[in-house]
Amino acid sequence: MTDFSVEANRFQTPDASTLQAGRVVIAVAGGEIIAVAPADTAAAAELRTQSPDHIDLGPDTVLIPGLIDLHIHAPQWQQLGTALDLPVQDWLQTYTFPLEARFTDTAMAEVVYRDLVATLLAHGTTTAVYFASVHEPATVVLAETCAAAGQRAFVGRVAMDHPEATPDWYRDADAATGVLASARSIDAVRAIDAGRGLVEPIITPRFLPACTDQLLSGLGELAETTGTLVQTHCSESDWHHAHALERFGTTDTSALDRFGLLRNRTVLAHGNHITDADIALIADRGAVIGHCPVSNAYFANAVLPVPELLAAGARVGLGTDIGAGVRPGVLQQCHEAVTMSRLRRDGVHAGLSSTERGAPTAAIDTTTAFWLATAGGAEALDLALGVLEPGYRFDAVAIDLDHRHGVIRRHTDLDDDERLFEKVVRLAQTSDIERVWVDGRTVHHR
Ligand code: GUN
Ligand code: FE
Repeated sequence: MTDFSVEANRFQTPDASTLQAGRVVIAVAGGEIIAVAPADTAAAAELRTQSPDHIDLGPDTVLIPGLIDLHIHAPQWQQLGTALDLPVQDWLQTYTFPLEARFTDTAMAEVVYRDLVATLLAHGTTTAVYFASVHEPATVVLAETCAAAGQRAFVGRVAMDHPEATPDWYRDADAATGVLASARSIDAVRAIDAGRGLVEPIITPRFLPACTDQLLSGLGELAETTGTLVQTHCSESDWHHAHALERFGTTDTSALDRFGLLRNRTVLAHGNHITDADIALIADRGAVIGHCPVSNAYFANAVLPVPELLAAGARVGLGTDIGAGVRPGVLQQCHEAVTMSRLRRDGVHAGLSSTERGAPTAAIDTTTAFWLATAGGAEALDLALGVLEPGYRFDAVAIDLDHRHGVIRRHTDLDDDERLFEKVVRLAQTSDIERVWVDGRTVHHR
């Protein structure tokens, strides 16, 4: 029995090079899309009449799949847009660890996380993969906040114990303590939303420099015994990449693999300095690169080779990062992923000849970027999300094409579907986003 149906101009990218646009009726029951029919068909007429609640979004709105953000530092919300003047290793010590350490205060965490989750939903982020802080109670607060707001989320307590790369006032006391805290946090997060399954735990070693070998192997074992997803940072910057080479005599990716952390669906944030062998290993293990283009411009010292990753069959999605990423919202990152790929293609040093300057096949377009943010990210995590088709969950975002307070303007004499799609991807702000659903429930209404 249908709960409701939505009629709208649907934009979706079932693969990295295909844009589908067209008016459809989508029937939803129990959060799942049970039928889709082109709006001018008899099947659509039937879906309309069968639905107790038929929502016609009208000709001035498009419906896109919910956006998937693979990398968010929740306790960095308060430094958004600031503190980007240092290299990542100094940025962590100077700004970020002191800020994250404040989340011993769970009352403060409640206020900050409520605002963060509501803001991300207003940007159309229907699935969020979060780094919380080292604190177990504040991690639970984040998971509870996502569950209450109705956001699909993976929530990870950050594990970090290395005395050389972390301050004594913000780290796990030792490896055993860190592994136990992460194990308890998995159970605590699982217990929150057991019925609906929207919120899940994720094992979160911060990155190799912040973790001792004992902590890394303990968390690898925990991932194996509990079957819990893993996330970490990988080869983000020259400094981070060199750390692994010096400490382990091998790359970050292969060291993570030795510790049992490079698993199916392990989310590796950034990954800018991975080698061809790393790409092959990531593809082989089914791990996922969470590409954060804006953050990379500040911290990574290089642009991620997205076409090379996709050609090798590696899984890739997009992330905002938040603290290092300047702005919330995944559409912005789609635009920036395109921009950074163009800079990589052309190169940036005008003193070199144009043939030496760039990487000719590096560019991606808005269709590929949007796919990364939707179906690509969903496939990366094996979630039935990312397209609005039967059998998928109804996570969706309605975007106004001509709202007077919005940024998008429609010129009916000029705009075809391709142009409208580019405007949605490049321009949409919260003021253009009318309504957001997760699992068939309205979670935001402008
Ligand atoms: N590497 C380790 N921790 C962090 C973090 O919080 N942000 C970024 N961008 N890189 C990191
Ligand atoms: Fe990060």
